Amino acid sequence: MSVLNGKKVVLGISGGIAAYKTASLVRLFIKAGAQVQVIMTPASKDFVTPLTLSVLSKNPVYSTFYDKEVADSLAPSEEAKELWNNHVELGLWADIMLIAPATANTLSKMANGTCDNLLLAVYLSAKCPVYFAPAMDLDMYKHPSTLNSFQKLLEFGNIMIPAESGELASGLSGEGRMAEPENIIAFMEAHMRQQLPLCGKSILITAGPTYEAIDPVRFIGNHSSGKMGFNIANRAAELGANVFLVTGPTHCKPLYTSIQVFPVVSAKQMYEKCFEWYDKMDVVIAAAAVADYRPKEVASQKIKKAAENFVIELEKTQDILAALGAEKQHQLLIGFALETENEIENAKAKIQKKNLDVIVLNSLQDEGAGFGKSTNKITFIDKNFTVEPMELKSKTAVAVDIMDKVCAYFK
Ligand code: CTP
Repeated sequence: MSVLNGKKVVLGISGGIAAYKTASLVRLFIKAGAQVQVIMTPASKDFVTPLTLSVLSKNPVYSTFYDKEVADSLAPSEEAKELWNNHVELGLWADIMLIAPATANTLSKMANGTCDNLLLAVYLSAKCPVYFAPAMDLDMYKHPSTLNSFQKLLEFGNIMIPAESGELASGLSGEGRMAEPENIIAFMEAHMRQQLPLCGKSILITAGPTYEAIDPVRFIGNHSSGKMGFNIANRAAELGANVFLVTGPTHCKPLYTSIQVFPVVSAKQMYEKCFEWYDKMDVVIAAAAVADYRPKEVASQKIKKAAENFVIELEKTQDILAALGAEKQHQLLIGFALETENEIENAKAKIQKKNLDVIVLNSLQDEGAGFGKSTNKITFIDKNFTVEPMELKSKTAVAVDIMDKVCAYFK
């Protein structure tokens, strides 16, 4: 899924021939899952029609502070308030603003705080990141006054999407043509990903149950659905982390293709997969409900029904989290504890025993918490034994809380 998904984009179009490419740009934003609000300078309407952009963006296109023609057509008693295109509201609505094409004239006005059209007023009101994609002839692109505008705008914290080289509308060839719409989107996505709080961090998450074989057709397992671990993995991916999800048998699917999923069945396989990646990880979150015991012998053939009573001898599985804790170097290690009594004390003991940084305590005494449910009620306890009880929430919201803790650790 694109980082642009769900983002509110204000696309400001100024008057250059490259404005005709903004139809594709709007389509690409919509395809990426963004909402688009187009604002045009009066001059840009000579190059592309507001109707085209309105249809593609599924929104009205604004270019003036006040829709005079519509206002004039209203009866005196009718409300004219909504005809005022509130630049402050538009600026605050945006998660991102892109000015493309950004002509030498508009760039100069932006650099100097001139505010003689709606686009410039929205730019001055915007609190979000502002990208600009210059478009002009090659000599204009190199002119000291244009370079001066670029420098000022970069100093203000705006982000420049450099022009590309090639054939220009003037017939000349050189640097100055607006970056192609696909390249603008790729630039913005890459830049936005870099700004994510966990960009460059690698996170290993365990999820789901483990199945411990009795014979070729039977196993010892538990009711873990895997939902909590998958929700954590999804959130970690949204925050820009490289996510490695080692999961026992589950029907859950990750939301994002960027999540690397390693399906395993038994505790032993989960242990081996975790240790394969452990050195390279910055964070490990053990949300799996790992079986504590497995049959000592696994029958090679299906066990036939015979005696009235049947006893299976069990042996301990490896405690994956405790082993990770014992070999911890730089990693932030977060475990879960599922308790039914003396919850806080038991969880604190697990922090020490498994050398954890944080434990996420689930009490089965809390209504709405536990296996198979889509809600959870957790309490955070850190290695200093600070106890932080949380409200009952959806597992998606709990995953947000858990990943907020991780982000805070890296701040
Ligand atoms: N865990 C693990 N490997 C195991 C058992 C548990 O990695 N063999 C991890 C779980 O993923 C969880 C944490 O250890 O993050 C605690 O699991 P829990 O079942 O609450 O505790 P146990 O250590 O198994 O202790 P007990 O069942 O006695 O409460």
